[in-house]
Amino acid sequence: MYDLALKNGFIVNENEIYLGNIYIQDEKIVEISLADKPANEVYDVSGKYLLPGCIDTHCHFRDPGATAKEDFTTGTQAAIAGGVTTVFDMPNTNPSVLNEQDLLQKANYFAPKAFADYGIWGLSLGEINLGDLPRLCEAGASAVKFFWGYAINAKTKALIYNYNPKDEDIIPPLGDGEVYEIFEQMAKTGKIIAIHAENIELIQTLTKRLQQSGKKDYEALIQSRPALAEALTIQTASLLAKATGARLHILHLTSKMGMEAVAQAKANGVNITAETCPQYLFLSAKDYDSVGPMMKVYPVIKHEEDRLALWQGLKNGTIDFIASDHAPHIISEKQGDLFSIPAGMCGVETMLPLMLNEVNNGHITLPFLVKVMAKNVADIYNLPNKGNLEIGKDADIVVVDMNKVDTIENEKLHSKQPLTAFAGRKIKGWPIKTFLRGQLVVDNNKICQDKACGKWIK
Ligand code: NCD
Ligand code: ZN
Ligand code: ZN
Repeated sequence: MYDLALKNGFIVNENEIYLGNIYIQDEKIVEISLADKPANEVYDVSGKYLLPGCIDTHCHFRDPGATAKEDFTTGTQAAIAGGVTTVFDMPNTNPSVLNEQDLLQKANYFAPKAFADYGIWGLSLGEINLGDLPRLCEAGASAVKFFWGYAINAKTKALIYNYNPKDEDIIPPLGDGEVYEIFEQMAKTGKIIAIHAENIELIQTLTKRLQQSGKKDYEALIQSRPALAEALTIQTASLLAKATGARLHILHLTSKMGMEAVAQAKANGVNITAETCPQYLFLSAKDYDSVGPMMKVYPVIKHEEDRLALWQGLKNGTIDFIASDHAPHIISEKQGDLFSIPAGMCGVETMLPLMLNEVNNGHITLPFLVKVMAKNVADIYNLPNKGNLEIGKDADIVVVDMNKVDTIENEKLHSKQPLTAFAGRKIKGWPIKTFLRGQLVVDNNKICQDKACGKWIK
C-alpha cells in the first residue's frame, strides 16, 4: 500500500496538463496513472491543479545575523505557504558563507529550522576568500554570489546600501581586475558565479549629481541607478565569462537595456543565464505614488517599458526563470527618505499567486509557469530530484485552486516583518495545499507540521 495518493488532479508539467492520480512512497512519486489504488492517506483533488513545488533560488533569510528582519524558520514557512518547496539562502548573513567551514556550519544550523528543502549560496569577496572558492563549491555550495557594485561592512559583511567612499571599516566595491580573478577561479569549479549587476562608478557620479540638484523623488532614484548601470556590468561580466570560461548567471534583471545585453551575450555563445523577479514584472515607476518607499529594491524597479520588455524576455527565453529576491527589512526601516532607507522587500510567499493570476488573465499558461518557476531552475542548478512531477522525483507538490479569489494582505504573510508591495491586489488562483517530499506541510495557508523537515540539498 502506498503512503499517499492525490487523486483526480490535473497534473501540470512544463509542457503538458493531464488528468491523473499521483501515488507517493518514501517521499518519492512512484506511480502516476488513472488506476484507483489504495493508500494510507488519500486526498481527492478533483478540479484542482497539481504543480511541482516552486524553486526560489534567491532568498535573503537574514539568519544568522539580522534575525529581527527574518529567520530561517519564518522565511521557509513563508516559502511553503506560497508553494515554494525549495529555497536557496543568500550568503549576506553574519557570519556569511566564505569557505567550507562556514557552509557546513550554516547547513547544520539550518537543519532544525528548515520548513523547506534548502540550498546554500557561497559568497565571493574577491582576494579575501579567492583560494577558498573551490573547496566551498566541492563541499556543496549551490553556487557563488558576487555583489558587484556593493561596498561591504568589513566586520559584519553586511551590504552597504548607500555607499559613501569616506565610510570607515568597509570593503570597497571591487575593481574589474579582482573580478577577473573571481571568474577565473569559478571557471575551475564548473559552478555558477551569479552577480548583482550594477556599475558603481556610474551610480556614484549620478548620485552626486542628483543630490546636488536636490531632487528626491522616485524618478531621481532611477536616474541615480539607471538601466545603463545594469547593462554596463552585464556586458563586462559577459566578456569576463567568455574569456575565463566561467558559468555566469545574472540575478534580478530589471531593464530592457540589461535584457538586450543578456540576449547579445547568449547570441555570442557566452555561458550565461538570467532571472528576473515579480517586482520587476508587476511594478514600475508609475506605481510609486500608490506603493511608496517599500518598493525600493536594488537594482531599482524601472519604467513601464522595461517591465513590458522583461515579460517579453521571459516568454522568448532570454530570461530563464524567476526568483523572488526575498529581502525583508524591519517595517519601520522601510519608511523615510528614499535615498537613505535600505533596499529590499518580501517576495517568496506572493510569487506563485501573482503568476497564477497571470494564468487566469490569459497572459501565460500553467505549463509555462512551471517551466520558469520549477523546471528550468532545477535544470540550471542541477537539482535532479526537483522541478517536475514524474516517477522517481521528490513528491514536492502544490495543489492549486485556480478559482479561489483572495486579496494579498500584509497580515496574511508568514514572514517576520510582513510587508509587501503587493498588498491590496486581488488574486485569482491560489495554492491551497503544499506537500514537501510527500508530507502535507501547508493546508489552506496554515503550517501544519510543527517540526522542521526540510533537507539540505548539496
Ligand atoms: C538585497 C538585500 O537586502 O539583501 N536587497 C535588494 O534590494 N535586492 C540585496 C540584493 O539582492 O542586492
Ligand atoms: Zn542583488
Ligand atoms: Zn538579492
